[in-house]
Amino acid sequence: MKIIDNIPQSWCEPWKIKTIEHIRLAPLEERKAELEKAGWNTFLLPSRSVYIDLLTDSGTNAMSDQQWAAMMTGDEAYAGSKDFERLEEVVQTAYGYRHLIPTHQGRGAEHILSQILIKPGQVVPGNMYFTTTKFHQEHAGGTFEDVIVDAAFDPNNQDPFKGNVDIDKLDRIVKRVGADQIAYVSLETNVNMCGGQPISMANARALKEYCDLRGILVMLDATRAIENCYFIKTREEGYAEVSISSILKELCGYTDGCTISGKKDCLVNIGGFLALNSDEYAQRAKEMVVAFEGLHTYGGMAGRDMVAMAVGIQEAQEYEYIRARVEQVGYLGKRLESFGVPVVKPFGGHAIYLNAKEILPHVRQEHYPAQRIAAEIYLESGVRSMERGIVSAGRDHDGNEYKPDLELVRLTIPRRVYTQSHLDFVSEACARVCKRADSITGLKMVYEPGSLRFFQARFEPI
Ligand code: F0G
Repeated sequence: MKIIDNIPQSWCEPWKIKTIEHIRLAPLEERKAELEKAGWNTFLLPSRSVYIDLLTDSGTNAMSDQQWAAMMTGDEAYAGSKDFERLEEVVQTAYGYRHLIPTHQGRGAEHILSQILIKPGQVVPGNMYFTTTKFHQEHAGGTFEDVIVDAAFDPNNQDPFKGNVDIDKLDRIVKRVGADQIAYVSLETNVNMCGGQPISMANARALKEYCDLRGILVMLDATRAIENCYFIKTREEGYAEVSISSILKELCGYTDGCTISGKKDCLVNIGGFLALNSDEYAQRAKEMVVAFEGLHTYGGMAGRDMVAMAVGIQEAQEYEYIRARVEQVGYLGKRLESFGVPVVKPFGGHAIYLNAKEILPHVRQEHYPAQRIAAEIYLESGVRSMERGIVSAGRDHDGNEYKPDLELVRLTIPRRVYTQSHLDFVSEACARVCKRADSITGLKMVYEPGSLRFFQARFEPI
């Protein structure tokens, strides 16, 4: 017997599978027909013709037996549900904010926060835009200004915290408009639009110090905060021995409140919330939530949804879980990289992003290269991904298309849903598309919705 010296130490998922859902690879002819019917937009494909669905990690989580069991105990009282009390306690303990305002999902919380805190004409600096977040900031009369570090715009820059705020950029805005014209700083965890890149604890702390001195609020988009905490634990000095829950509490402690889409980190299929420290703002939020979402003790969620979320938030902070989650994403990244597929680095926490500018250098950005690659991956394999480039960025006030530096295709991994062999299949499909990149052309947009156009726009190949 000769056993090798360097035996690898792999991680495993801390769960086993109890229920399965069948999936089917639609034949090529069907995929072609469906893609045409969908106007070459993966958002418009029917799920029945999708084999492996990496469109989003939003609401696509597999719940645990504990969550399903808790759902049976849901208290569906219109007012004062015990599950509101339970969720409130879990949120206070996990994130540390004093007041909980439940909403139907993240954008419901963004709407209320924006309406309360933004006065028309004010600026909302943030570490890169997110589509719905920016929509609500602008809808409330604000202007979003990007203050993310420059490294975020370079897919090959290996900085471990490419989501950080560049405080000098923020300072220039504050000096230009005055602190009272800043509605708040919008701080996102694991920044979605630049590849799922985390913020560091040091950056959150420095931002809070800067903002406190000037009376500016910091509002966290904590949608993927727990996944961000895994990166702090594994990449930032001094945190290796600190628990995920302590890191989360410290991180949130540098902010004045948060909005959350519960459909990600919180391991449920629907729901979200706004959490605030200020009594005054919480009171105003409760007044608004009854008009737009539901009574302040359910905000658009069923009692069973609130209790499933309470359990999910607790499960998500377990180290074994979060390691398997984030490292599974990294596994896909490494495999794609080993085939030579250009991906954003370091690997993100919820998704791997293909760099469309490098894959289709001959296709101009106005011809939507990332949109085209997402469509080609579907044609190749039935795998659904999502454009995160010029289509997602939309248009400015004058109607000109924003041309973001990053033109990306997102392969988003649902939590606790797919296995390593699913990801092997995905990586091979992407490599095959890249192999025939020379023969792939761009798209022209033939239908464009007025706002958040990426959801429903239609295209034709050039
Ligand atoms: N903030 C971030 C960072 C998000 O990624 C999302 C949703 C939201 C807010 C809005 O939350 O969907 O519950 O209303 N992101 C999904 C995605 C849609 O696919 O990235 P929501």
